[in-house]
Amino acid sequence: PPNTAPEPHSPLALPRRPRRLRASPALRDLVAETRLAPSDLIAPFFVIAGSGAEEPIGALPGVSRLSVDRLLRQLERGLELGVRAAVLFGVLGAADKDPRGVRAADPQGPVARALREARRAFGSDLVLITDVCLCGYTDHGHCGLLKATPRGVVIDNDSSLAALAEMAVTHAEAGADLVSPSDMMDGRVGYLRGALDRAGFTGVGILAYTVKYASAFYGPFREAAGSAPQGGTSPDGMLPPRDRRTYQMDPRNAREGLVETALDEAEGADMLMVKPALAYLDVLWRMRAATPLPLAAYHVSGEYAALKAAARAGALDEASAVQESLWAIKRAGADLIITYYALEAAAKGWLG
Ligand code: PBG
Ligand code: ZN
Repeated sequence: PPNTAPEPHSPLALPRRPRRLRASPALRDLVAETRLAPSDLIAPFFVIAGSGAEEPIGALPGVSRLSVDRLLRQLERGLELGVRAAVLFGVLGAADKDPRGVRAADPQGPVARALREARRAFGSDLVLITDVCLCGYTDHGHCGLLKATPRGVVIDNDSSLAALAEMAVTHAEAGADLVSPSDMMDGRVGYLRGALDRAGFTGVGILAYTVKYASAFYGPFREAAGSAPQGGTSPDGMLPPRDRRTYQMDPRNAREGLVETALDEAEGADMLMVKPALAYLDVLWRMRAATPLPLAAYHVSGEYAALKAAARAGALDEASAVQESLWAIKRAGADLIITYYALEAAAKGWLG
């Protein structure tokens, strides 16, 4: 048998031996700098009309579009697991969309109905957040309204704000705790704050998508929500770009995130968000130093899908890879994490 006894020797003179604190799980837990709990997580849901409906999303294994009754079951399951916050995205059929996204402010739409029913069922136990954006409601799939100009069809910043404000007030009337504008138009936080206040909803907060990049990692979400940007519908045949680069941030920029941070703080945002998460941990870190406000990170659909695909291919251990990813996001400065893994990670004990 191999002899494992050490050769006699005199120890090296090392006053610091970091390995001492790594000797056992109990010691490692004692000195862990980062912790994750179910209450750090926000679960995203896609809500559709009807009842008894659950439509699996091919690009997001394990995630389905849910009618309100099915959504309520998932929210309840989340509460049982300690996940006490959800963000709701409305999904419409093509026939319900139009150039101005008027159904975004429909009090009978899936999100408004879900808010009323979830509030009735769970009272204030659940933090209900809604996505405020037009891309799931416009037929062209852009997050703002289109306008023809001599330079072509553009996304019109200021007229979009009025439509977003109507949507936010509809959600507030239906019982949202926080509205979460994801459109990246300039001035929308201040505009929504004013609209909510004038409508009497001074207590409804704003979780701002402060730093949202024009990212390839939203691919599966756009399939889930049917919200991919199209090239517009102008009579003269001019088209807006088929991407969101005129409103979402350029992935090459980090300092610009501090400009957005200062603006959203000044305009009255209650919490800020960085999105996506893993490719932008440096931005999260900078924002952590720049703002005292609660900071959220969105671990987006493409990040989830990539982990699922790698796990299914047997390339990595899903539990550890998810845990490590969520730790990284928290370590970089996020207080809260929006992730499609919320319920699964809480149920399977992947936090800690
Ligand atoms: C829409 C919106 C998007 C996401 C959240 N809100 C997609 C986009 O900007 O095209 C992405 C979320 C995800 O990928 O999980 N404004
Ligand atoms: Zn949008």
